[in-house]
Amino acid sequence: MNNHLLQQLSIHPLPPQAPVPFELLLLADPSRKMINGYLDRGMLYVATLQGEITGEYLLLPESQSTIAIKNIAVQPQWQGKGIGKSLLQHASLEAARLGYEYLQIGTGNSSVAQLYLYQRCGFDIKAIWRNYFTEHYPEAIYENGIQCRHMILLEKTLTA
Ligand code: COA
Repeated sequence: MNNHLLQQLSIHPLPPQAPVPFELLLLADPSRKMINGYLDRGMLYVATLQGEITGEYLLLPESQSTIAIKNIAVQPQWQGKGIGKSLLQHASLEAARLGYEYLQIGTGNSSVAQLYLYQRCGFDIKAIWRNYFTEHYPEAIYENGIQCRHMILLEKTLTA
C-alpha cells in the first residue's frame, strides 16, 4: 500500500451501535468464548478505509499501569500493506493517552511473522506461558508447520 492510501486509513473506537466484525476477530483467536470475554471488558478499535473495515484491535486493561492488546487482525486481502503496523502504533498512542505505562501483547510460539512484527514495533519478550494453548484451547493449533503450544508475552514501555 502506498503512503497515500495509509493516510486515508481512519482508526477509531467501534461506534456503540455498530455490529462487531466477528469474522475479523476470529482470524486472531479461534475461540468465540475467549473473544466474547474480551469484548465484555475491552475497547474495540477499527481501521476503516473508504468506509470498509480493514482491521481491528482490542485493548483490555490488566492493571493500573498495564493494558494489553488482546486481539489484532487485518482482513486477508489487506494484509501486508502496513495496516497492522499502523494499528500497533495507534494502540501505543491510545494506551499512553489513557495513562498506561506498559502495553502488552501475547502470541503463540508458532506465530513467526507476528513475533517479527511486534519486536519491530518496539515490543520485547517479557515471559513465556508454557502450554497455554494446549491447556486453554480444545483443538491443536498448527501454524507454519509448528504446533502452537506456548504463549509468548511481549511488552512495550510507553513514553507519555
Ligand atoms: N510473513 C512475513 N512477514 C510479514 C507477514 C507474514 N505473513 N505479515 C506481515 N509481515 C511483515 C511485513 O513484511 C512488515 O515488515 P516490514 O515493516 O519490515 O516491511 C511487517 O510485518 C508489518 O506488516 P503489516 O503489513 O503492517 O502487517 P499486516 O497488516 O499484515 O497485519 C497481522 C499483521 C498479524 C495483524 C495480520 O497479518 C493478521 O491479521 N493476521 C491474522 C490474525 C493474527 O494472526 N493476529 C495476531 C494474533 S497474535
